[in-house]
Amino acid sequence: MNIFSNLRNKELSDFLDKTLNNYYDKVITKNLSINLSKDSIELINANYKKAVSISVDFLGKEINSKIKSRLSGKKDIFGKLFPIKNSTLLDCTAGYGRDSYVLRSMGFNVTMIENSPVMSLLLNDALKKLKLLNFNMYHGNSYDYLNHSEKYYDYIYIDFMFNKLKKNSLSSKNDETLKLISFQENDKNNLIRLAIKKSNHRVVVKEPKNSLSNILKPEYTIKTKLLNFNIYKGNNG
Ligand SMILES: C[S@@+](CC[C@H](N)C(=O)[O-])C[C@H]1O[C@@H](n2cnc3c(N)ncnc32)[C@H](O)[C@@H]1O
Repeated sequence: MNIFSNLRNKELSDFLDKTLNNYYDKVITKNLSINLSKDSIELINANYKKAVSISVDFLGKEINSKIKSRLSGKKDIFGKLFPIKNSTLLDCTAGYGRDSYVLRSMGFNVTMIENSPVMSLLLNDALKKLKLLNFNMYHGNSYDYLNHSEKYYDYIYIDFMFNKLKKNSLSSKNDETLKLISFQENDKNNLIRLAIKKSNHRVVVKEPKNSLSNILKPEYTIKTKLLNFNIYKGNNG
């Protein structure tokens, strides 16, 4: 991974160069670069004919149309999944923060965890720009976080899956890039079991409809056309 910066960011740039290139496979990330400018962090993916800039865009069209439909009550799957308003919610797999941002807009007090260092840099940059309150973010593994934290959350949300890719759309490029910089959880059930212990109401695990993954049997499943949301009752309720 290449790191470019102006002189003001030289220290951060040297630090990232050392740490990220230890963390990531050089072959997989050889066409990725991080540009550190005065006031923003940009990830460039040059695996395409025309390089694309990848960022966390809380104000973009994709997230805002989701928010409108959720708030207007149409297709309100999150309303069904998380029925008690203004609750605390831990998103164990933040990614681009799309789901978390929608949930925060619905009034939940959201904490996000993300274990990819690059994704965390982008998320943190976006949060700083918007000066978002009631929206905490930690970089690290969510199992370790839950294991070491004294906190309990009303809801815990886990989304291990990647969206089905629409060819060439920016969102598919975002998701393809996320695959290069993210880390898949190896022991999904371990995380789900701990989340159940640390939840007051419920744990929700998103999966593609015909998933072959062998996750813990849920109490029940709320289904949409393409997705299964597996529901587990929290032990602390
Ligand atoms: C499919 S994406 C989530 C997309 C997200 N729901 C959104 O709305 O953008 C899964 C993300 O979870 C992260 N992840 C997977 N296992 C994790 C764990 N145990 N702790 C923290 N992050 C994890 C991956 O690095 C990846 O960025």
